[in-house]
Amino acid sequence: MSTDPRDIRDVVKFLRQREDLGLGEIFLERLTRDQVLLAAAEARRGARTEWMGTPEQETARADPSEGDGLGISSPEVDLAGLKYAELKAVAESCQRCRLAKGRTQVVFSDGNPQARLMVVGEAPGANEDRTGLPFVGQAGKFLDLLLAAVDLSRRDSVYICNVLKCRPPGNRDPMADEIDLCSPFLKRQIALVAPEVILAVGTFAAQLLTGTNRPLGKLRGSVYAYEGVPLVVTYHPAALLRNAGWTRSTWDDLQLLRQVMDGS
Ligand code: URA
Repeated sequence: MSTDPRDIRDVVKFLRQREDLGLGEIFLERLTRDQVLLAAAEARRGARTEWMGTPEQETARADPSEGDGLGISSPEVDLAGLKYAELKAVAESCQRCRLAKGRTQVVFSDGNPQARLMVVGEAPGANEDRTGLPFVGQAGKFLDLLLAAVDLSRRDSVYICNVLKCRPPGNRDPMADEIDLCSPFLKRQIALVAPEVILAVGTFAAQLLTGTNRPLGKLRGSVYAYEGVPLVVTYHPAALLRNAGWTRSTWDDLQLLRQVMDGS
């Protein structure tokens, strides 16, 4: 059996996120049964930092200028100096990872780029891939309702985007290498929009922006800082639609968000 450590890292992360969501079900993609069992054993051992790798492993793992090991190569554009329209244009023609092949369109953002609040979700789904706008499906409508409950609207007061700009096939979870390759766009997007507050919805956005791999249930309830910007985390609206038991916690998170925005 040949075991690519990157596959195992992804599966370990995937299993922990399922656990976090209270889901026992998994699906197999590309991996053999033995590889999944190995990953499950890793996940149970609680070696929580292993999938992130050491800095040396991170460097060795993804060098897009030499191809990303996924059969797709694209010259690396330094995003750091780009203006908003340039960043959007580079994202819209991005070929950094496998998701470029399956997307209909890149989903960059919706809402008001001058907004005080930036909401960061996980990745586009089928409706978002079709329309080019984030959070337009059922979860998106629910998100709009949640935001309206604390007097916020995407038309006026919210800017919305995702960790991944392209739809993962079958709405599967983002993989670690996809997040690595796509997150520079989010980083620059945050720098350019310069929100006063960020709301991360769901495990992927919360873990990426807090720089931890703690489960969402343990992360929520505190105010963090991302590059100096206050950050609140809460459950993903899609997870909330499946688990109504989290409604109370989400309500508390939104009240916390409101307090941070009101400076109280
Ligand atoms: N879920 C997300 O995280 N983002 C979307 O854009 C849609 C659903």
